[in-house]
Amino acid sequence: MAVATHSKLDAERLRTDFAVFEELVNGKPVAYLDSAASTQKPRQVLDAMRDFYEHSYANVHRGVYRLAERATTGYEGARRKVASYVNAPSEREVIFTRSATEALNLVAYAWGLDNLEEGDVVVVTDLEHHSSFVPWQYAAGRTGATFCVIPIDEGGELRLDALDEIERQGNVKVVASNLVSNTLGTVNPVQALAAWAHERGAIMVVDAAQAAPHRHLDVQALDCEFLALSSHKMCGPSGIGALWGRRELLEAMSPFNLGGEMIRSVSAERTTWNELPYKFEAGTPAIAEAVGFGAAIDYVSEVGLGAIEQHERGLLEYTLGRLGELPWIDTYGPPPERRAGIVSLNVEGVHPHDVAQVLDWEGVAVRAGHHCTQPLMTKLGVSATIRASFYLYSIQEEVDRLVEGLVKAKTSLG
Ligand SMILES: Cc1ncc(COP(=O)(O)O)c(C=O)c1O
Repeated sequence: MAVATHSKLDAERLRTDFAVFEELVNGKPVAYLDSAASTQKPRQVLDAMRDFYEHSYANVHRGVYRLAERATTGYEGARRKVASYVNAPSEREVIFTRSATEALNLVAYAWGLDNLEEGDVVVVTDLEHHSSFVPWQYAAGRTGATFCVIPIDEGGELRLDALDEIERQGNVKVVASNLVSNTLGTVNPVQALAAWAHERGAIMVVDAAQAAPHRHLDVQALDCEFLALSSHKMCGPSGIGALWGRRELLEAMSPFNLGGEMIRSVSAERTTWNELPYKFEAGTPAIAEAVGFGAAIDYVSEVGLGAIEQHERGLLEYTLGRLGELPWIDTYGPPPERRAGIVSLNVEGVHPHDVAQVLDWEGVAVRAGHHCTQPLMTKLGVSATIRASFYLYSIQEEVDRLVEGLVKAKTSLG
């Protein structure tokens, strides 16, 4: 049972919802510190999907029979949950996609290719995940627009003073930024960027893949035009994400994928598009995954985003404190008050992949690599980092095992 507490969550109790924590890896219980890559799934989500497949499965929207109605109710119910989770003015503005990556590509292709031209400026940040960096770089390349990157300072925070210089490059048409950096955990000033973008007549595209699992989201308060999120990073299944977009923009945009479901009428002479959101949902969608996504939203909401944020802040402060005792550890990123539960680090003299290998022998799961942020790695002057990341089920003991593993890696390989 998910434990509803308003101020403090009980991670030990929540862990009983996740069968994986009973699993032994190399003879040890897994210390799962890779939730920024993907989260584990609670029984409630798995049960909801199994129950749906066993009792309500059919294709959606098409059938008049009872099972098809149940399936459609489940799928559209999940859309309502996503809409409410991000405080969308209308559920018609929520489009199910395969992932946050696909949501961001949808905007870059369907809005970018039709609205950008030479003389325009596309702005991203040094902190972008490749899925928010590369589609815009590509759209700029295809349309002749100028591609600009907001740099970071030494603490891994955006240098907003660079915006003046960026503005001198041309007509700013789009600003794309993540709300939380997946590599440094930096919480970015998206509202300020949106205000700056709007003053210049540009749109604001928010990559909330890393924020949605941990922080309260409100597209109206953020005042953005588009926002992308992903189910698998918030206790839901992989294979489904969502894009929220302002209705007038979505309505004006061309479709992204073409085929069944997204049409109103088809003939050899002319094909017309379905209404929102179906215009952007060609083909059979990830139906049971949508139901699982909805169940994950219920689970995370019941635990409480405030409690999750507070819990992760505690773990982050504890981790940084413990790492601070080790002079041969380099850590990257801003102070805990402007950062989510993500710690990127390096062990002096040992390659991150070797460190991760030693940690794996200890049953500690972390990520080593560029985390799909190669431009950021270049800025940090490293090829890779070790990344430990937390979620609602993370506990202090796992951090202790991380630190012990790092000491072992340094002693044996350093
Ligand atoms: C900040 C950020 N944006 C986008 C993505 C891509 O999300 P998805 O796996 O849903 O495509 C990730 C995944 O790591 C991410 O951390």
